[in-house]
Amino acid sequence: MKKITIAIDGYSSCGKSTMAKALARNIGYLYFDSGAMYRAVALYSMQNGIITAEGIDKERLREEIGNIKITFCADEETKNSITYLNGVNVEKEIRSLEVSQQVSHVAALDFVRAALIEQQREMGKAKGIVMDGRDIGTTVFPNAELKIFVTASAEVRAKRRYDELVARGDNLDYNDILANVIERDHIDRTREVSPLRQAEDALLLDNSEMTIEGQLEWLKEQFKQRTAE
Ligand code: CDP
Repeated sequence: MKKITIAIDGYSSCGKSTMAKALARNIGYLYFDSGAMYRAVALYSMQNGIITAEGIDKERLREEIGNIKITFCADEETKNSITYLNGVNVEKEIRSLEVSQQVSHVAALDFVRAALIEQQREMGKAKGIVMDGRDIGTTVFPNAELKIFVTASAEVRAKRRYDELVARGDNLDYNDILANVIERDHIDRTREVSPLRQAEDALLLDNSEMTIEGQLEWLKEQFKQRTAE
């Protein structure tokens, strides 16, 4: 069967990565989380004094972007993808609310996007991949054979993210998460470089009322149709 590229884009916290991971595992494709790469750049900037209370030191980040190496490795037990920043496992840190509050500012910088997009295209060369993000179907892989654009209401998305963070032991206020979801949506949609938007040939999936299983079935059906064509 021919291998294709699957691009899954959409709003923050709408379960893109859960669905992308489940689909990739089910069809034997590789999964790449482009958001984790932007998160790792934000974390690096926070750890190295590039992001301070005064904001982002853009010139320093521009100088250092070439030193930020992001790699993925599958966890031996769970087979889930783990993000490494310059060789260090940062999978937990990059999901914190502190990183979420900085990441969209970092992701709006043209030189950050150019560097990460180049790496993402490299990862996708062999096809047979599922990549999720904000601009995968519009900018990174405009020729992807299957494009999905996911959305759900902001409240549903904030509740999902809240449950996820509480389950891993974080003590948070739901309203802070909701505010972060709304703020990131706004920054992602209105930035100048590859803003979040639905590609013309992307299928729209509103999963507010869908179960994870129902969603996977729907995705598998779309995959079947595309690879049969
Ligand atoms: O999982 P969640 O929806 O919280 O977001 P993510 O996929 O981890 O992405 C975190 C942030 O990175 C987004 O809010 C965007 O600002 C940025 N991002 C981007 O600009 N382009 C991408 N392809 C992926 C993420």
